Amino acid sequence: MLVVEDLEVRYQELRALQGVSLRVAEGDLVALIGSNGAGKTTMLNAISGLIPAASGRISWRGNSLVGLSPDRVCMAGVVQVPEGRKLFPKMTVEENLEMGAYLPAARKHLAESRKAVFEIFPLLAEREKQLAGSLSGGEQQMVALARAIMAKPGLLLLDEPSLGLAPVIAAEIFQVIEGLNRKGITALLISQEVLHSLNIAKYGYVLENGKITIHGKAGQLLDDQRIKESYLGL
Ligand SMILES: Nc1ncnc2c1ncn2[C@@H]1O[C@H](COP(=O)(O)OP(=O)(O)OP(=O)(O)O)[C@@H](O)[C@H]1O
Ligand SMILES: [Mg+2]
Repeated sequence: MLVVEDLEVRYQELRALQGVSLRVAEGDLVALIGSNGAGKTTMLNAISGLIPAASGRISWRGNSLVGLSPDRVCMAGVVQVPEGRKLFPKMTVEENLEMGAYLPAARKHLAESRKAVFEIFPLLAEREKQLAGSLSGGEQQMVALARAIMAKPGLLLLDEPSLGLAPVIAAEIFQVIEGLNRKGITALLISQEVLHSLNIAKYGYVLENGKITIHGKAGQLLDDQRIKESYLGL
């Protein structure tokens, strides 16, 4: 279980997260939705140790993540797929995937992880030797997801995985994420594709100006009038 309690994050005087609490149970897929600038990326970056928490608690499987370096958080099994994919464009698909398994625990399973990843993303097997920067947006997102799988995550933190993708490709990405969750990977998914993400999630949280304003079972959120008006355009 991922437990975040009373998390505060500040950028100088800006209080980007103001006492946020959230839980992701083992095996669940949880959606975090919210408008631009709500603090969603800040939340993931605080969990993964990229930015410090001013106060509050973050733990995964009972171990505190507060104050750990990003490497350590990754070693604990918490792996972020960053906004904008952040691939190494001048490296091949294969090399990008290997980068995902750079920590010793993951490196040991390199061959087995490669096989698993190519089963999930058969297209990447064909593109192994291609430079990542020359792939289409959808393909690059697949590489970003595949690279995270190479790290053997217990918890995936997904930041806007469908950003900038055509609707058909975005739908494919959501299917892949749902499939990864079915395989037992716990996930916290940020997406402005509210309908898509609540359709595959079990539970959802709405973040507004650094605070959680609504949370509940995904089905309930889809029926919530406030969400229909503000996020589903209904
Ligand atoms: N490094 C930073 N320094 C100062 N302010 C920042 C920094 N990063 C983010 N912010 C501010 O913190 C707030 C939350 O930003 P964040 O990136 O977490 O939002 P978001 O919900 O991910 O938005 P988006 O949907 O646009 O990605 C915004 O007001 C943003 O301007
Ligand atoms: Mg963001």
